[in-house]
Amino acid sequence: MTEPQNPKKLFIKTYGCQMNVYDSERMAEAMGADGYVMTETAEDADMVLLNTCHIREKASEKLYSDLGRLRPLKAANPDLKIGVAGCVAQAEGAEILRRMPLVDLVVGPQAYHRLPEMARGTGQQVDTDFPLEDKFDLLPERKATRGPTAFLTVQEGCDKFCAFCVVPYTRGAEVSRPVARILTEARGLVAKGVREITLLGQNVNGYHGVGDGGGWTLARLLRELAKVDGLERLRYTTSHPNDMDDDLVAAHGDLPQLMPYLHLPVQSGSDRILKAMNRKHTAQDYLRLIERIRAARPDIVLSSDFIVGFPGETDRDFEDTLDLIRAVGFGAAFSFKYSARPGTPAAEKPPVAAELADSRLAALQALITAQQKATQESMVGREVSVLYEKPGRMPGQMVGKSDHLHAVHVNDPTGQVGELVRVRILASTSNSLAGARI
Ligand code: 5AD
Ligand code: SF4
Repeated sequence: MTEPQNPKKLFIKTYGCQMNVYDSERMAEAMGADGYVMTETAEDADMVLLNTCHIREKASEKLYSDLGRLRPLKAANPDLKIGVAGCVAQAEGAEILRRMPLVDLVVGPQAYHRLPEMARGTGQQVDTDFPLEDKFDLLPERKATRGPTAFLTVQEGCDKFCAFCVVPYTRGAEVSRPVARILTEARGLVAKGVREITLLGQNVNGYHGVGDGGGWTLARLLRELAKVDGLERLRYTTSHPNDMDDDLVAAHGDLPQLMPYLHLPVQSGSDRILKAMNRKHTAQDYLRLIERIRAARPDIVLSSDFIVGFPGETDRDFEDTLDLIRAVGFGAAFSFKYSARPGTPAAEKPPVAAELADSRLAALQALITAQQKATQESMVGREVSVLYEKPGRMPGQMVGKSDHLHAVHVNDPTGQVGELVRVRILASTSNSLAGARI
């Protein structure tokens, strides 16, 4: 195929989670097949696409402030197409056009394979369907756009209905992709130089795709992917504690390709709050699960998500959360102040005072930061593997991720992007490690 002489330029801004990063890459590929090339700024784009997140109010509101900033661009160039994708598009649909008439296209997370066709059309269009066809079947083949690492969505949606969360409404019911399609996508990525794949899903460890013989789980899928020649590293995110079955725990001990880092959100350490959140597990259940995972893979680094200030959270409940954090010892964590989301059960309940939630968040983050620092420091003197992702800022320096997902800087003038090397960790700084190639 010959490239058009003056290709149209597409700028995509991605908000929120890794699933959105993956979706943005696939939308870029779909638009690329329609003659668009990517550009780094909205100013020189023919189309601007905002791939949005609805998980917390702040994330959602960013869309409207960014759309406001696009007004002068649209005024200067009325042909500029502005599209809104992602979970705000799904949740608000045509309301976005009403509030922001400069928007041309609104497309939900299940309909974005139709984006090129929408972009070819005229006038304002909204598509927030959950179509019968599978978008993944209709999207063009993957490109390896992030060097040696790639995301691969294996599952979408969520049936858990945590009381605070919009995901079951914006992303819909849990759906798993068929095993064969995932293996084909993974092999294709490896053929393009990818050496590490992170499997994605809102409830990735609830994976139950169709495949030969039936009974496919995430553990089986990982075991199958581990057989793909040249695929050196596997990760998966995000998981629910209740879906960590025995085989998946065992896989952490059995599969050298499965990296010793696990993101396992617990949200709270108080049984009362966990019940109100509809999490369907207790703090004890979580702690026992962590024990099993550590028995299978003793050096595993754990991370989690926490919400503070959930409606009804008392000082005692919050202390229970701090106790759980102390008991586990996390290597990293994301923590959020509870944000009431329209349409979720928790949004009906009276909120905790904002200042109280702020001070709890600060206390929790201080504890997590200390644990993160301790985890990083425990790596000093150890030998780890590092997959080089890009050159560093200093001459001769390479940057990559360790098995434990720490960023590692290595002075290695002959190092190449995509190389997997052994490194001795020499020092720990605030956000990364420094090491020497062995
Ligand atoms: N308020 C605050 N945090 C939330 N999360 C999800 N919904 C909310 C909300 N309404 C957090 C959870 C989840 C992460 C992706 O975002 O901790 O695990
Ligand atoms: Fe949201 Fe809970 Fe589903 Fe995670 S498990 S996506 S927090 S409803």
